[in-house]
Amino acid sequence: MSNTASRRSFLTKAWTAGAGALAATAAWTSWDLLQPIVSSGFGGKVRSVAPTAVPETGVIEVPAARAYLTRVNGEVVALSEKCTHLGCRTPFCDSSGRFECPCHGSVFNRAGDYAAGPAPRGMDRYPVEEGEDGLLYIDTGTLLEGPATGTQTIDEPPLGPSCSEESGHA
Ligand code: FES
Repeated sequence: MSNTASRRSFLTKAWTAGAGALAATAAWTSWDLLQPIVSSGFGGKVRSVAPTAVPETGVIEVPAARAYLTRVNGEVVALSEKCTHLGCRTPFCDSSGRFECPCHGSVFNRAGDYAAGPAPRGMDRYPVEEGEDGLLYIDTGTLLEGPATGTQTIDEPPLGPSCSEESGHA
């Protein structure tokens, strides 16, 4: 075989391999772009739990979303744990069944409705939707303003003493 034929054969194989690699890369990129966004950290869509894990009368904390999930009239609601007064983290008090801000005493019922204190409205919330994998995704990039003072979406009086009463800080 001559040198010219050998070089032509080599170049043909090299071009074929390069075109194959390029096609494979393009196919992978297209496939990857068409996949749904499955999960991200705070500021994006945060994967949480299955809808069946959200209690009817309690809450479940999703630390990665800095939020709580609960049910309000059958619908799953994601509540931001940031107090609408000055932004303190507002934990759920199991004994009272309410959210109680430790900073200045704002209180919200289980649905995040305003109940007491200096907060200007109910707890802010995030959109939540079920993904193709059957889990709930909390869109922490979209903060929705909480309900106005006076809104009562559920009728649940306090279950018992507040956490501040229990710890002697009332
Ligand atoms: S930050 Fe919650 S009451 Fe002030």
